[in-house]
Amino acid sequence: MTKIIAFINHKGGVGKTTICAHLAYSLHHHHQKRVLAIDFDTQANLTEILGALEAPRTISNVLSGAETAQSSIYEASGLSVLTATIDLANIEFDLTANNTQNALKKALAGVTDAYDYVLIDCPPSLGALTLNALMAATDVCVVSNAEYLSLQGMKNIVTVVQQTQLYNKELALSSIIVSHYDTRKGINREVLGKLQEAFTDRVLVPPVRSAVAIVEASSHGATVFQVRPNADVVNDFHALTTSFLEKYD
Ligand SMILES: Nc1ncnc2c1ncn2[C@@H]1O[C@H](COP(=O)(O)OP(=O)(O)OP(=O)(O)O)[C@@H](O)[C@H]1O
Ligand SMILES: [Mg+2]
Repeated sequence: MTKIIAFINHKGGVGKTTICAHLAYSLHHHHQKRVLAIDFDTQANLTEILGALEAPRTISNVLSGAETAQSSIYEASGLSVLTATIDLANIEFDLTANNTQNALKKALAGVTDAYDYVLIDCPPSLGALTLNALMAATDVCVVSNAEYLSLQGMKNIVTVVQQTQLYNKELALSSIIVSHYDTRKGINREVLGKLQEAFTDRVLVPPVRSAVAIVEASSHGATVFQVRPNADVVNDFHALTTSFLEKYD
């Protein structure tokens, strides 16, 4: 069964896109999984990290009905990618105005079966794009940093997922990944501990450490696997991918 996983958090800059890109890359290149990565954010950061900015068609073309999802999938970094541009803002406006929550699910019908994993990178909001992702998904992965306010944010996310589950019965909040983790910071250790108390084995380990190599790689429009293969944080991503596969495969 295809796992369709939405990477969410309404808090910005917590590492959603970074985690999504590195898991997509590793699942495909190191574990031979069939992966479709979907950029569902107007910022198009996933599109950039996966080197897909040249894609001729985007998820906006698909949601506007001009193209099929199948004909819009672009091959980049060895992966299948549905890319985004700022045009997605217009689509989001329409989805919001018409209260449409099933557009992504409909657009992907018949396409997702060809993949083991479909990873959807969501924007930093719980608005129309994220709701469409949650309706299309089988699973939610919350990406969070380990700051005090993240715990409060998690409550809001749980509420939104529960509301969506009334309509998408197969949706599960099945994983939480902590990013920007610094083991020397007491607050990081404390918040990780609280998350593990509340969500037990849904918290995937290890957390991804704070690493300049990630910022460097993203400035090159690439993953650390490609640009800084010897960086310590690469080990985090390898171990995290193993935990991810133990959960989902
Ligand atoms: N573990 C990390 N250590 C250091 N920097 C990181 C780490 N993870 C991500 N970053 C950097 O932090 C910034 C935000 O990361 P990212 O884009 O992955 O977050 P996001 O949650 O997707 O953001 P947004 O909410 O805007 O979509 C980027 O510049 C990225 O390179
Ligand atoms: Mg992002």
